[in-house]
Amino acid sequence: RDRGDLAGVRVLVTAGGTREPIDPVRYLGNRSSGKQGVAVAAAAAARGAEVVLLAANIDTSVLAEVASDPAVRVVPVGTTAELDSTAHAAAKGARVVIMAAAVADYRVADIADHKIRKEDSAGDAPTLALVENPDILVSLVRERQGDQVIVGFAAETVESEDELLERGRRKLARKGVDLLAVNAVGWKEGFEAEENDVRVLDMDGDVVAAVAGSKREVADALLDAVRDELDFAESP
Ligand code: C5P
Repeated sequence: RDRGDLAGVRVLVTAGGTREPIDPVRYLGNRSSGKQGVAVAAAAAARGAEVVLLAANIDTSVLAEVASDPAVRVVPVGTTAELDSTAHAAAKGARVVIMAAAVADYRVADIADHKIRKEDSAGDAPTLALVENPDILVSLVRERQGDQVIVGFAAETVESEDELLERGRRKLARKGVDLLAVNAVGWKEGFEAEENDVRVLDMDGDVVAAVAGSKREVADALLDAVRDELDFAESP
């Protein structure tokens, strides 16, 4: 049987959205369903890769796509701090790192150890003090293992395709990744949807893939670009 063009390649994928606790029952979160990242994990496994999927708060119905796949090891995580430590540990053995997770930029400075009660705030709305989270992707790039291929995602609210690419190019340079998958998001587009519309930028800022379709089709187009990066690194 043909094992595929990523046979034996170790791929780390992060997916979903991190949550930052406010108190024991509340959190700050985002609308990422994890569908795109899970589709990347499933597609990579189908192409022969050995996948570690760090799943940040992903519904079991979404994880079902990979749940019975022996080539995908799913590790659930909750907060950005958990994703940060598991990602750094898992990246050590990975040839390819794909950061599809939506990471909370800020966390709550002082997590209350009991439920914050309206009765206790004497009619005043409480104020949440936030502190900045570390940028996991930037630190993975800083600690890059050999010629590891590192891929980021960027979901942007934009007015035009030009603005999307412009913001993508700036982010690519800021993060130092090999490839950046950019897509427009908004109240209706991007998150939770079954389809996606993505541009993949390489280090020069060139669009190496443009694909509108199912999240699996987007995943395969992205993995084609990853395969090209691996071929380039492995060419004599
Ligand atoms: O800056 P922005 O959040 O748009 O960047 C998105 C990319 O950076 C994604 O690949 C995301 O997983 C990653 N990221 C991260 N750590 C953060 C914020 C974003 O790894 N604190």
